[in-house]
Amino acid sequence: MIRRPDGMRGATMTGTGMYVPDRVLTNRDLEHMVETSDEWIRERTGIRERRIAAPDQASSDLALVAAQRALESAGLSPKDVDQIVLATTTPDRFLPSCACTVQAKLGAVNAAAYDVFAACTGFVYGLGIARGIIGTGQADTVLVIGVETLSRIVDYTDRNTCVLFGDGAGAAVLQPCAEGDGILAISMGSDGSLGEVLEIPAGGSSCPASAGTVQARGHFIKMRGRELFKVAVRAMEESVRRTLEAAELTVVDIDLLVPHQANQRILDAVRERLGLPDEKVIANIERYGNTSSASIPISLDEVVREGRLKPGDHVSLAAFGGGATWGASLVRWTQPAPLKPALAVPAAAVREGGR
Ligand code: UT7
Repeated sequence: MIRRPDGMRGATMTGTGMYVPDRVLTNRDLEHMVETSDEWIRERTGIRERRIAAPDQASSDLALVAAQRALESAGLSPKDVDQIVLATTTPDRFLPSCACTVQAKLGAVNAAAYDVFAACTGFVYGLGIARGIIGTGQADTVLVIGVETLSRIVDYTDRNTCVLFGDGAGAAVLQPCAEGDGILAISMGSDGSLGEVLEIPAGGSSCPASAGTVQARGHFIKMRGRELFKVAVRAMEESVRRTLEAAELTVVDIDLLVPHQANQRILDAVRERLGLPDEKVIANIERYGNTSSASIPISLDEVVREGRLKPGDHVSLAAFGGGATWGASLVRWTQPAPLKPALAVPAAAVREGGR
């Protein structure tokens, strides 16, 4: 057993995987649905298109494929998984958890499974949980998944939100590693007083579902984007800096920043404030939009399969989201660059007629 000086074992990513649905919703498609334009969306957000789950695809179906790909790249079988930590805001149902549904579909018969609700920061929170579980020896193999079918909770009559979000899933396998490798530091924060800035007002215990809540469109996402924007930039920068400080490293030691993909302008602002060069900051928002908890593991899997990370590289994962929540994870990469190409192949655009 490999232990750190503080008695905790290290934890590292030994496999990654992602899945996005084939169906593409373009900015042009949205022009036919709400009063918006391709130009506005590209200039204000950087998004050109996003993926939309098929009617028969639930979050667990997207998560399943990402999980299978992550396990395959780690050379493991579902039976090897001790715990599944699944981050989502769009579970298949409120009961059972989405993680349990994935556990059954995957055949991870030896795994405990549970959901984490931390909106776009969910995957980073999941890494924090997995690191603790592995560090204390409670589990050897933890599958952390970020998955969303946001198209099911987006109001396609609300131009403030419907142009932003997309569907997808990403996953990472975490296992014990040598001291000084893997996750070097995690920073997690929240400010619940900002809860109403990004919320789904109805459907919970404070406002149970009724004919009235459906009529009032209370089950859809409501967002005050401009307010979130400012907090997002500051919180992501500070989270990255906190993890660097904890690991006794500086910004120049970062080889790659994989930020949550909320808005290209947020990514640019964080990059500028940290003083990172353009090529060190991963951006794929153009193709997927904001996939909330799935955006970091999707991006991570793409860079891994493109061979952009080599053992010893420092990769920083940083997120911000509803709650408000935020966090970062600083990882010393250990996994050899796999030979398989990226799994996200651009699909032909399919006209989305609205829901
Ligand atoms: O994933 C984590 C959580 N989410 C975020 O972190 C999102 C953070 N916020 C943002 O990304 C940006 O604030 C948005 C992209 C949501 C909005 O961009 P903005 O530059 O902050 O625009 P705004 O909200 O200040 O709106 C500017 C104008 C408004 O019109 P008026 O009042 O100036 O006449 C909006 O009504 O743009 C209008 N607008 C649009 N126009 C065309 C808002 N949405 C659209 C749209 N198309 N889709």
